Amino acid sequence: MSTAENLLGFLKSNQGSWISGEDLSRELSVSRTAIWKHIRKLRQEGYEIESSPRRGYCYSKTSPLLLPREIREGLRTKVLGRGDIVYFEETDSTNARGLELAASGAPEGTLVMAEAQTAGRGSKGREWHSPERSGIYLSIILRPRISPIEAPKMTLLAGIAAAEAVLGLTDLDVHIKWPNDLLIGNRKVAGILTEMASDMDQVSYVVTGIGINVGAKEFPLELGDIATSLFMETGRDISRAALICSFLERYEDYYHKFTDGENRLILERWKELSRTIGGRFAVEISGKRLEGVARDMEPDGGLLFESADGKTHRIFYGDLEAIEE
Ligand code: BTN
Repeated sequence: MSTAENLLGFLKSNQGSWISGEDLSRELSVSRTAIWKHIRKLRQEGYEIESSPRRGYCYSKTSPLLLPREIREGLRTKVLGRGDIVYFEETDSTNARGLELAASGAPEGTLVMAEAQTAGRGSKGREWHSPERSGIYLSIILRPRISPIEAPKMTLLAGIAAAEAVLGLTDLDVHIKWPNDLLIGNRKVAGILTEMASDMDQVSYVVTGIGINVGAKEFPLELGDIATSLFMETGRDISRAALICSFLERYEDYYHKFTDGENRLILERWKELSRTIGGRFAVEISGKRLEGVARDMEPDGGLLFESADGKTHRIFYGDLEAIEE
């Protein structure tokens, strides 16, 4: 471990207590000037560390940033986030970065996170609103040995994991809307975008991107009626780092269930967390807007949609627009 890591660890284990520069310098076997330089750097990274000429230093609060070391520290996973965690203060899209990294050989479990995205990608070519420091913008590189037709399931797994993570940290009535939305009431709080590279029968890699609106206090006019954030729903600051860790632990668990063939269990859990089945919706199929009922979800992630003319359609992508009864 570097001196900065050791210093941070020592300060954290003495949170709320003052420690003199002299004691720190003895403990870490570096000069007092070196201690001061590291403290300055840690403060720049957002850690709250008080200093007083007579008492020394006192660590009071962790950084509000999504620093890889903080994520790693809180994470109980075996694969996800165990290798590289690539962190950007700003990037165009963590999915774009993830796809590049995967194409150049980054291993399964590599994470890409950003504090802000300038061109966050939503599904169907839309933009994902990604303001600085108020959301989670995270992409995960996976290399499942599956055929491309199984890939939509990766979105379902992420939806389940995200819903469970939010339910674990709040008492919100969050639910999944097929295929990739997390809703509170009728407003979207999170979305998932799965992108991949494959040949005809084998996926090379999948990048699962998740965006969660955590701390936003407002949205641009065009999203005002359809988006919400955890802060707007609870009035509380929810820790983005804790939410990421919880999501990744659950996602890893469901991902392993999926690769072990436990599809029924996944499907059942998805249905429990979703309000889609049985609902009335309008959806565009082959260029036509059809109204009908979402009848069931198939093990491969396809939705069985029965249109008003009695025909059943299997759909894998689309926007379900709820129809009021
Ligand atoms: C949707 O339209 O619901 C999907 C939104 C997915 C947004 C996330 S944010 C992190 C990752 N990087 C992107 O550019 N998009 C995904």
